[in-house]
Amino acid sequence: MDVPAAPPDRLPVVAMVGAGQLARMTHQAAIALGQSLRVLATAASDPAALVCADVHLGAPDDLEALRGLARGADAVTFDHEGVPNELLRALTAEGVVVRPGPDALVHAQDKLVMRRALEGLARMPAYAEVRSPADVDALARRTGWPTVLKAVRGGYDGRGVWLLDGPDPALVAELLAAGTPLMAEQAVSMRRELAVQVARSPHGQAAAWPVVETVQRDGQCVEVLAPAPDLDPTTVAAAQQLALRIADRLDVTGLLAVELFDTDGTAAGLVVNELAMRPHNSGHWTIEGARTSQFEQHLRAVLDYPLGATEPTAPVAVMANVLGAATPVAVPLDERCHHLFGRFPDVKVHLYGKAERPARKVGHVTALGARLEEVRARAALAASWLSTGEWADGWSPYGPDAARTREVFRA
Ligand SMILES: Nc1ncnc2c1ncn2[C@@H]1O[C@H](COP(=O)(O)OP(=O)(O)OP(=O)(O)O)[C@@H](O)[C@H]1O
Ligand SMILES: [Mg+2]
Repeated sequence: MDVPAAPPDRLPVVAMVGAGQLARMTHQAAIALGQSLRVLATAASDPAALVCADVHLGAPDDLEALRGLARGADAVTFDHEGVPNELLRALTAEGVVVRPGPDALVHAQDKLVMRRALEGLARMPAYAEVRSPADVDALARRTGWPTVLKAVRGGYDGRGVWLLDGPDPALVAELLAAGTPLMAEQAVSMRRELAVQVARSPHGQAAAWPVVETVQRDGQCVEVLAPAPDLDPTTVAAAQQLALRIADRLDVTGLLAVELFDTDGTAAGLVVNELAMRPHNSGHWTIEGARTSQFEQHLRAVLDYPLGATEPTAPVAVMANVLGAATPVAVPLDERCHHLFGRFPDVKVHLYGKAERPARKVGHVTALGARLEEVRARAALAASWLSTGEWADGWSPYGPDAARTREVFRA
């Protein structure tokens, strides 16, 4: 007897605005949940457009493109903040489920709106809106030079952040004339930078990962140490509770990353720098380093599924970004992978399918282990080798160390 095949269960469709590496890695998590991420890409060569089956081409500031992306999807979410908030309001008014909603997302889009909303909830650097060069100088009279000048909207990877040692009216006037909304901020002297990531579902369930240390170079995150070394448990708990309170106050659905300055190692010394409401560079380590990755958790949260466990899978995880080298690399990328896998069989590599350009994030590596120094050294060596095609410690596949490695793996 012929048994008619049952139609496959319809699984949810999440539509993501943007098709960069965050969307690419979210798609990877979607596959495991039986789903396929739909993405709005600006080009067929965007990292996620190269791997997703359901690609819409269009601009994030085009309402028709957003409507097309949302049609038939269970939730619309983001891999970047570059979507005009008023367009999201229009979508929401039409009944589209947008997570995080526009009222929450605006705090990750606008640094001034965020600071005003967190007054009384979190410590922040002294700041002022800048409408003329005199506003920067007025803040500096209160807090001293250097002063940090920031684009209120649209900055990323340190683009949109200027450290001013003294008055620079020409720069401020030029930026304002170009239509860049600006703020000025006290330059915080800090011991290090931390980040704490939480997820919150529409149901109100929330989960936090361990607090991490982020290391920046030229304003860009290059390394993440999980958990943040030598952070006392009281400060860890305070940072997690702060992020959960912010997520609740702003009604965040999905992921929230809170970038923090650690000024003195205590809970009272935590200063909020920035919010992101999407998967974040500070959480890439969770793919291998936590029971549930940030990418899977974001999908669970925006779909209002119960959240996954956030416990670490190893005592230490270190993520290092692979940045495009300053000069062309002689060793082809494929060959760099061969050598890397030969030397460090345990290091996990994530390449984003992006062309290598100086300082551009083209991938990351993650190493796990028991001892921070050793794990960190492995991740740093792996990332710089993939970036430059040169081993920073002078290692050679033909040297005695390499022979020992081969012996171990033959055994
Ligand atoms: N007030 C400050 N005092 C000292 N350093 C600062 C200050 N603000 C920013 N920085 C430094 O500049 C980096 C980038 O700043 P910020 O996070 O505001 O900019 P962004 O370009 O939006 O960042 P992202 O790369 O996270 O998108 C920070 O991680 C920190 O290293
Ligand atoms: Mg930042």
